[in-house]
Order: sequence, then structure tokens, then C-alpha cells
Amino acid sequence: MHTTILGIESSCDDTSAAVIENGVLLSNRIANQQVHAEYGGVVPELASRAHQQNIVPVVQAALIEAGKSIHDLDAVAFTRGPGLMGALLVGTSFAKGLALSLDIPLVGVNHLHAHILSLFLARKGDAGRFPDFPFLCLLVSGGHTQLVVMKNHLEMEIIGQTIDDAAGEAFDKCAKVMGLPYPGGPMVDKLAAEGNPSAYTFSKASMKGLDFSFSGLKTSFLYFLRDQTRTDPDFVKNNLSDLCASVQSAIIGSLTQKLVRAANETGIREIAIAGGVSANSGLKAAVRKLGVSNGWKVYIPELQYATDNAAMIAITGYFKYLTGDFSSQHITPVARYDHL
Ligand code: KG4
Ligand code: ZN
Repeated sequence: MHTTILGIESSCDDTSAAVIENGVLLSNRIANQQVHAEYGGVVPELASRAHQQNIVPVVQAALIEAGKSIHDLDAVAFTRGPGLMGALLVGTSFAKGLALSLDIPLVGVNHLHAHILSLFLARKGDAGRFPDFPFLCLLVSGGHTQLVVMKNHLEMEIIGQTIDDAAGEAFDKCAKVMGLPYPGGPMVDKLAAEGNPSAYTFSKASMKGLDFSFSGLKTSFLYFLRDQTRTDPDFVKNNLSDLCASVQSAIIGSLTQKLVRAANETGIREIAIAGGVSANSGLKAAVRKLGVSNGWKVYIPELQYATDNAAMIAITGYFKYLTGDFSSQHITPVARYDHL
């Protein structure tokens, strides 16, 4: 028997649709929104409008690439939250309408849960190397930074999280101060490859336990640049690679310090990273290196599944579908989402 799930993602500024059959990914289409570039960040109202324009063509393209029609679908999974309310409403309304018209189940998905389950994505013919349970995941995105123990596909426990900015936010805010375009994370990553990570040190908050804090680093970085540019107006331009490498190294240092501590405290040796910042080459290298020295098995999502995409929504929808965890037609999106 075939189980075919359509996944829809619209929580921020990417409209995406994907089709999964029996846990195997058949298609994953993403329409990025360019309208935000000139504003230096995502403008919620523009995001909602762009989702409305993109959603039908993106779903159609995902179905065509998968070689499926809407009548082959067994369920529609969608991002319920967290995210921008207006953006979530577009995906939620579309998913509800489609599921209702086809008389098939609707499956609401937590975007953060989906980032973690992106580790289980595989296309036909892929080797498919997946973590064993329980595994420890460092979830690092634009809005969230958490240490999560996954007990099975559908049960998770958050054992640490940021008390202020997320790691992606720290990348983006520091990039903005250097005059780099939004989102700055990927650009910092690229420039850091040419720079010296020990060129500058910035003060970091040392948090107790397994929690993180990034707002102190951002402030320290801002003040450092302000002081330097007073005497040398071209300081940022002339030292861009070293600044990127140093700030990236500081963020990675905070993340990996807590990851090691969490692995030691839980005794878990199956270690994963997920979310947009797991695309960072410095973080990937650092976690792989730690894996070797600590005897961990390390799992990192492919680049295309690290940042926002509907494939991760579809795979999460698939696991929820298998246990009959469906949503009612009365379901509403949620901007904040603290459970599964
Ligand atoms: O998971 P994601 O696509 O969206 C959210 O759910 O937030 O994460 C987006 C975040 C942004 O802050 C972006 O700058 C960051 O991930 N990011 C990166 C890289 N690629 C994306 N940060 C550092 N290095 C990268 N290569
Ligand atoms: Zn995300």
C-alpha cells in the first residue's frame, strides 16, 4: 500500500511544497521571496502576500515533479507554527481547503519538530543514514536555539534553550552591523572561510546549565565596531573576513560547549544538528571534529534540508499519519508553539 503525503511550509519567507511516498521524498519545491531584500529583514505583510501568490504554483510543481495528482494524496501536512501569523495562515488555509475538498486527513506540524525530522529525509537510492533513538539534537534556526533529546520520531524533550537571541539571529544581527544583506548567516559563513577566527575576541555571557545566551555577544560586537570605526572609518571593510571568522567562531564556541555538556550529562552518543544554522560550514566541521574526539556518531542534514523546506514538513506529517495523529478542520495556526 502507498502512503502519499503532501507537505506545505509557509512559516516565514519561503513558500514550499513537497511530496513523500512511504517515507521516501519524491519532490521538494521552494519559492524564495525576494521582496524582503531591500528592507534588511522579513516584512510580515509582504511575506503573507507573496505566499498567496506562490502557494498554488509551488504545490502544482511539487505534484508534477513527484508524478502525482491531488487524487493520489492520503493526507495534507502543513506548518502550524511557530512563525509569522499571516504567513502561517496562508499555508494553513490552503491545506485545510485541499484536505476538505479531497476528504483526506489534515496533519498540523510543529516547524521545529520538522527541522529535527529533516534528518530522516532520503530520496530513492540515497544511502539513508539515520540517527538511532534516543539522539541529542542541537536545533539552531533563525528563531530558535534548543538542545533536544528525541526519544522516538514523535516524542521530544527540550533540555536547554536560548534565553534571548537565537543563533541564527546572532549571525544575522552581527552581519547587519557589518552592512551585509539579510539574511547574513550564509554570507558570514562564506567570508569567514577567508578569515582568521582568532583575530578578535568578544565577550560572551556564560550561562549556567544547558541554556544559551547570544545578546551579550551581539552588544559586545556592536561596541567593538563602534570604537574601531571612530579611528578608522574603513575598519569593517578592511577586516571583513577576520570579523566574520571571529564572530562565527564565538557563536560556534557557545553552541558546541553546551552540546558537549549535554552529551556528557545525558550519556547520549548519537548527536545531530538541524535548522538553518546547521548549514554553517564552521559549525559542521566543529561538530564532526568533536564527534571524532568524543566517540559520537554525528548526523547533519543535507544543505537543501537544513534551511526551511516542505520536505521536512511532509516527513513529519508522514510519521504523525502512521500513528493516526490527525488535526481537525477547526485547527488554527500558532505564532508560538511549545509542544508537538
Ligand atoms: O531554519 P531557518 O531556515 O529558518 C527558521 O526557522 O528560522 O533558519 C534561518 C537562519 C537565518 O538566521 C540564517 O542566517 C541562518 O539560518 N543560516 C546560516 C547559514 N545558512 C542559514 N547561518 C550561518 N551560516 C549559514 N551557512
Ligand atoms: Zn525553520
